[in-house]
Amino acid sequence: MKFETESYDLHILVCTNTKEKGQSCGPKGGQEIVDHLKTWIKSPEAGLKGKVRVNKSGCLGKCELGVACVAYPQGTWALEARPEDLPAIEAWIQSQQK
Ligand code: FES
Repeated sequence: MKFETESYDLHILVCTNTKEKGQSCGPKGGQEIVDHLKTWIKSPEAGLKGKVRVNKSGCLGKCELGVACVAYPQGTWALEARPEDLPAIEAWIQSQQK
């Protein structure tokens, strides 16, 4: 076993979970948000390659407020995110930089 400290400035988790019953993030565009952010982070305009990592996640426990995104180590959330909110999500990520 090995332990490490975070190697990224920022780690973003975006819920892409789809539940059989009730609200969930997958049907609200979670995967679309992840796909866009992964491409955007690597772009020269963003300038975040190697500094920020985006991963899709399972349920983050905020199903009614999805799409749920959380930034670590800050522990801040972007909730009720939709693909049409991508410019605001990008601005949020930029604002979370150390
Ligand atoms: S399904 Fe996304 S937070 Fe629960």
